[in-house]
Amino acid sequence: MTTNEIIRIAIDGPAAAGKSTVAKLIADKLDFVYIDTGAMYRALTLKVIQEQIKFDNEKMITETLTNTKIEFKAVSDGQLVFLDDIDVTAKIRSTEVSQAVSHIAQLAEVRKQLVRRQQLLANNHSVVMDGRDIGTTVLPDAEVKVFLIASVDERAQRRHDENIKNGFSSDLQILKEEIADRDHRDENRKESPLTQAKDAVSIDTTAMSIDEVVEKIIKLVTDYKNKAR
Ligand code: DC
Repeated sequence: MTTNEIIRIAIDGPAAAGKSTVAKLIADKLDFVYIDTGAMYRALTLKVIQEQIKFDNEKMITETLTNTKIEFKAVSDGQLVFLDDIDVTAKIRSTEVSQAVSHIAQLAEVRKQLVRRQQLLANNHSVVMDGRDIGTTVLPDAEVKVFLIASVDERAQRRHDENIKNGFSSDLQILKEEIADRDHRDENRKESPLTQAKDAVSIDTTAMSIDEVVEKIIKLVTDYKNKAR
């Protein structure tokens, strides 16, 4: 093995554990491609809402997905998400989409299609990919696997601060309930439930700063490279 070999970093964990913030920073520092798999489930959910398809109509949702383009475009301060050539970066973060997305993410055929697309996106270059099933299903051979956790209270507080900062209205108690609810659905769905891969390193970020988490993961990458030398 050589040190300039492709390295894939899989970052999994529950909602609002800081995965995307951390993943973006790592991708930036290491010059890897960042792939936000949650954004793909969110983009499809937005389309399902727009087309007024019932959330349990798996056949129609799957057919819709087959004819749907979901693309990422890197920009200086992050990443834009395009749904059929339309920029939906902000829209996919709406409360409506956030509340509906776990219903769509539990559909087996949807997962199959999106997992395949994610695997293709990770083909042939170094990536940081975040989601729920990256280390277990999408990239089971990822060179570095991380499972980020944080208490529900801490995660709700972070989302709350973020909402306030972005000028959105926010209710901490409701956020706690939504996050606990989403955890429950993500952990208990039949298809690819949120579980830690056996070989993933678990990091509890409750009392850590973003920079500390980033440093810790970069250290894992360095350790991997040294071992592979
Ligand atoms: O990370 P996020 O909040 O943007 O994810 C949105 C939803 O998609 C969430 O309910 C979990 C689901 N998801 C998933 O099931 N598998 C992934 N790889 C990524 C997200």
